[in-house]
Amino acid sequence: MALATNTPAPASGLTTTAAPFIEEARAHREIYIHQPYELYSEDNQATWGRLLGRMQDRWARYANRRYLEGLDKLQLSRDRIPHLDEINHFLQPLTGFVARAVTGYVPSYLFLDCLRRREFPTTVTIRDGAHLEYLPEPDIFHDVAGHVPMHTDPAFAAALVRFGDCAAAAARRASAISDQHEKLRRLTSNIRAMSRFFWFSVEFGLMRAAPTGEADDRDRFKVYGSGLLSSFGEIAHAIKSPKVERRPFEIAEVVNQTFEIDHYQPLLFVVDSFDHLFDVVSELEQWMLAGKLDDVAPGEPEVKEADLASFLAAKHD
Ligand SMILES: [Fe+2]
Repeated sequence: MALATNTPAPASGLTTTAAPFIEEARAHREIYIHQPYELYSEDNQATWGRLLGRMQDRWARYANRRYLEGLDKLQLSRDRIPHLDEINHFLQPLTGFVARAVTGYVPSYLFLDCLRRREFPTTVTIRDGAHLEYLPEPDIFHDVAGHVPMHTDPAFAAALVRFGDCAAAAARRASAISDQHEKLRRLTSNIRAMSRFFWFSVEFGLMRAAPTGEADDRDRFKVYGSGLLSSFGEIAHAIKSPKVERRPFEIAEVVNQTFEIDHYQPLLFVVDSFDHLFDVVSELEQWMLAGKLDDVAPGEPEVKEADLASFLAAKHD
């Protein structure tokens, strides 16, 4: 029997689109895992270095100051994908937050309840090095380089915890409604409202920057949303493009605003500070409790069955 010598090696490593370890864990319905660090391939490591390297100038130019401080504190290196344990060693003493490895999608109640406990569900796979820019789902670069530096900031961290409180309020309200149809209708609207709010703040938020006095006003806004912070193309587009509309953050607008995930965002919302963000998330909970999120505009995002089920199964405190 002849051995084939020119057959490519089987897919291995922890590439988002080809990670047998993750597929196996998902097949067993596991959500929380350890970071199987030894499985990262040389290609995976090289991809991390390229992603981190090319963002340095962009972050320096467009990211808000708290994010840049967070990057310093976490000591991310181009030389290797970070160990989540090392990240947590730096992060936990600052705000109590930890990055916790997951297999990928986490149903929304479980995700927000993790935030309430100051745990951030963190993807451990990394995108295919042939497609650095486009990625329909999170990877470790988006989660660790895009989100986690923000978790070093106490006001931002407190705002994330308040998202968890909102989810708990939504679950409690739903459990008190006996009419099944009405329960699902209101819960779907509440989840849609929270998803939109999260999207236009934590993922794609802009912050007003102190005026510099420069003629072109180029520093009027800074980026704090992780979807922008992890995108080489969109971070500049969000700040510079005349095609992007940038509006003050108003809850009534945000919770009724549809969005699509497969192209650059044409509309972004601006907060004044992370204290402001904390205040509007707290207000969101008040809106929820007052029934003001029970009839938000239909449309994107779709609320998945698994998200609804996660709220209905929530244990209340
Ligand atoms: Fe994200």
